[in-house]
Amino acid sequence: MIQKINSFEEYQSEYSKSVSNPEEFWAKQAETFQWKKKWNKTLEWNFDEPKVEWFKGGKLNITENCLDRHLEERGEKTAILWEPNEPNKPAIHITYNELHDRVCKFANVLKKNGGKKGDRICLYMPMVPELAIAVLACARIGAIHSVVFAGFSAKALAERINDSQCNILVTADGGFRGAKTIDLKTIADEALENCLSIKKSIILKRINSEVSMKQDRDVWLHDELASIDLSCDAEEMDAEDSLFILYTSGSTGQPKGVQHTIGGYMVYAEYSFKNVFQCEEDDIYWCTADIGWITGHSYIVYGPLLAGATTVMFEGVPTYPDAGRFWEVVEKHKVNLFYTAPTAIRALQACDIDFVNNYDLSSLRVLGSVGEPINVEAWEWYNEHIGKQNCPIVDTWWQTETGGMMISPLAGITELKPTYATLPLPGIQPCLVDADGEEIFGNDVEGNLCIKYPWPSMLRTLWGDHERCRQTYFSTYPGKYFTGDGCKRDADGMYRITGRVDDVINVSGHRMGTAEVENAINEHEAVIESAIVGYPHDIKGQGIYAYCIMETNKAVNDTTRKEILAKVTDIIGPIAKPDKIQFVPGLPKTRSGKIMRRILRKIAEGDTSNLGDTSTLLDPSVIETIKKGAI
Ligand code: WT7
Repeated sequence: MIQKINSFEEYQSEYSKSVSNPEEFWAKQAETFQWKKKWNKTLEWNFDEPKVEWFKGGKLNITENCLDRHLEERGEKTAILWEPNEPNKPAIHITYNELHDRVCKFANVLKKNGGKKGDRICLYMPMVPELAIAVLACARIGAIHSVVFAGFSAKALAERINDSQCNILVTADGGFRGAKTIDLKTIADEALENCLSIKKSIILKRINSEVSMKQDRDVWLHDELASIDLSCDAEEMDAEDSLFILYTSGSTGQPKGVQHTIGGYMVYAEYSFKNVFQCEEDDIYWCTADIGWITGHSYIVYGPLLAGATTVMFEGVPTYPDAGRFWEVVEKHKVNLFYTAPTAIRALQACDIDFVNNYDLSSLRVLGSVGEPINVEAWEWYNEHIGKQNCPIVDTWWQTETGGMMISPLAGITELKPTYATLPLPGIQPCLVDADGEEIFGNDVEGNLCIKYPWPSMLRTLWGDHERCRQTYFSTYPGKYFTGDGCKRDADGMYRITGRVDDVINVSGHRMGTAEVENAINEHEAVIESAIVGYPHDIKGQGIYAYCIMETNKAVNDTTRKEILAKVTDIIGPIAKPDKIQFVPGLPKTRSGKIMRRILRKIAEGDTSNLGDTSTLLDPSVIETIKKGAI
């Protein structure tokens, strides 16, 4: 098992070792894992193709590292502590022994239904233990999992299944989320009408709803498990075989299938988890994310289980049955390490403080934040009311593509600075570049954030489109990985992420491509063209502001707005619904037809005093009309 860093001096010496000899540094970490065969080359890389290979030739199965290797020492320790949506229903403690057995059985169910090494298996599930088990079961047999967040629509699900040609879909009859139930099976059925690659669908019974089962395709998970073999050898995998695909948004309408491989991801997931949270053997750790996002992959499932920790998995939402739910769960399970998103903090901050004060939060030792820049008010509220000024807050900057936390304090070890992600983890070499692609040296500077050297858990490619991977991340600044984020480095060398510099917005910690939302809006029959920008939103961080040009002969009103929202819900899902829709006669465009989003952003922010240079616009008069109609 990986040894964690224990002091600031040790952080400094580990960091400098990791830069002066990265291969030796990572080989030492990798040696603490169980390999079926050792690698022959620690790292091979170039950022031009790009090609990155870690621990090449090494053979392993990640589930042996998450499960089997713990059984002797902590077989009866709780691996997953599941808290259901309903507070009066019992929590479920799954030990490492039990999790091992359930993963093996599930793996055999996948095999029985045609799943095998290299297949893509789609998981479209609520936050129940079976989701984590299905993830690990895929890894056990060497299949590549593609988890699709259960809030996505049928069309979005179908698009993701088709892109990577999944042959099995694991889903449920439905899921509970707060006061709502979501009919996942109905949505999945609609999606599968357009997914010819899916041969089998395995259904978990969760809400006991009436569902229709398609003959020869759909099987109930409980029926399959009733007579299945308990043992399942872990498939021998290459370190550079794929572990999973996770779709994320980019600046075009097409979601990108970010592809991660087994060996490097494994090493970095445990390394970053242990060091950032400073997790101790008996800690109860809770990350409130959904496994449908990278945070859930790395820091609900893989990181904590690799570390042999107890990971809490929560089915519900922060405000059900009331705004005290998080704190009730912290008290109930005596949570020590708590990791959530700024949007959740802001939503709870807006509620009565009694929802916090009713509970004993003294078990908490470390607080974490992820997903977007945390504003100073939220940081201070979190620190004072949740941490009682006694818990370091780790503001962890990373991305779906980075696989693990990249810039973050190590709790209690390195210094904090509110709203700063602070310092890179050992092995991570960030740099700032200017518009000309020149690296900006020294401190008290600002620029675009790049990473100049490979790290083990970085993406290897985008599924089916290596060229897009090269273009998106490795072509803007040749020789460097470009994050898409703007960033400041203060006088002490601490990093503060300032937000996206591309056509991507961050809504409640969820990444959204402006083009993706625009394409969905444009599907409305009366919309001719649309433009989306983000604007500051008290709870969501960024809200979505939509400008729509409509057909002139159609009357537009609130019904039209509702129809547009319904379109977006249908094509992407409710998370992408615009907060504001303004109907406009035209959009500010340059002579070459490019929308000047900078101007639209200013208007959406309500700051029209200085719109900057508008002389290159085709028709500057359109701005006045848009300004007048701003919502
Ligand atoms: C983008 C990545 C990483 C898991 C959740 C989101 C923003 C993320 C922070 C932070 C400032 C942050 C960045 C990044 N972001 N964490 N601590 N401070 N910004 O993953 O959907 O891949 O989005 O989220 O803009 O590029 P994602």
